[in-house]
Amino acid sequence: MNATIPITSFKQFREVAYAFRLPRILFSALELNLFNSMESRNWTIPQLAKRLKVSQRGLTILCRNLASVGLLVKSQSGYHVAPFSKRYLQKVSPDFRGDYLTLMLRQWSEWSHLTEVIRAGQPLESREAETPEYRRSFTWAMHHRSMQSAQDVAQQIALKGAHSFLDLGGGPGTYALAFLKHNPTLQATVMDRPAALEVARTLAQLSSAGTRLTYQAGDFLKEPISGTYDVVWYSNVLHIYSPAENLNVFKKIKRILRPGGRLLIQDTFLHDPKGLRPLEANLFAVSMLLHTDRGNTYSLQDVRAWLQEAGLTRSRIIHLKKGTGDWEGQLLEGRLPLSG
Ligand SMILES: C[S@@+](CC[C@H](N)C(=O)[O-])C[C@H]1O[C@@H](n2cnc3c(N)ncnc32)[C@H](O)[C@@H]1O
Repeated sequence: MNATIPITSFKQFREVAYAFRLPRILFSALELNLFNSMESRNWTIPQLAKRLKVSQRGLTILCRNLASVGLLVKSQSGYHVAPFSKRYLQKVSPDFRGDYLTLMLRQWSEWSHLTEVIRAGQPLESREAETPEYRRSFTWAMHHRSMQSAQDVAQQIALKGAHSFLDLGGGPGTYALAFLKHNPTLQATVMDRPAALEVARTLAQLSSAGTRLTYQAGDFLKEPISGTYDVVWYSNVLHIYSPAENLNVFKKIKRILRPGGRLLIQDTFLHDPKGLRPLEANLFAVSMLLHTDRGNTYSLQDVRAWLQEAGLTRSRIIHLKKGTGDWEGQLLEGRLPLSG
């Protein structure tokens, strides 16, 4: 995409406009359950067409495209799955990203309603549409999205002297568990809605660090946040809420931080004066328009101003040298003064 922006020629415009084709091809392969159905063997087109109950003509063109981007390998007699697909797109693999793939697929149809949403200025569904089933599936998707980046982040952030850690809006607790693993004396709490915490409990049982994780069910906007903490981790939550709501959350966090305690914010941030870069931060704002009442993406400068106003006066940007695979590997820290 980067070679095509800014768009200054019709050729670039056409490339950007037609960029929908490859995602659509991937999503059709997922909808047909193609990668799982191929298991570990080689398939001729007639054999695979029979198994998937699709036309040979359609499958021939689909497989050729999937092979051309490296998801399948073409052999003399047919196709088999490439190592990447085997690892991430097949259910039998421990690295399978199942619920995250489902979330991506759902977004195809959701994004198709963008024009209506822009006209109305209202999200696709109201908050009432949130059911425990939806929350559980979304929470698994969050785990599948962050299982690698959580390890990368926790490995690169030193929590020297910290004993207590709150993963606020922590969903599956993937980040809390990663920080616990890398900090053997740390105790952590994950706060989220009850259905999300069910997923966190399941994951904690699979990890030896899980015995040091506790749970707080509730809505942190409407209810008090209990406990006192050395570190609060606020990851991928900032963009769900308005500036005023985030300021309110920061003020609540200030009250539960120990003197010298840190709020660490992970999100996608705009970081040029006009608020146009990076493109990903602007694209992500569209997701918030589709799904939230007041969410958006924000500039580092704006969020630092809210931290200051909330009394977390010592703020700084933390660049993670090795990146995280999530956003640009950049975090924002707000710290409560030792005398605060
Ligand atoms: C986008 S997910 C991020 C999950 C995780 N922090 C991560 O970075 O992968 C946002 C999470 O915040 C939770 N959340 C949002 N608003 C909340 C609120 N007011 N009270 C409790 N949890 C909330 C959601 O239920 C969801 O699990």
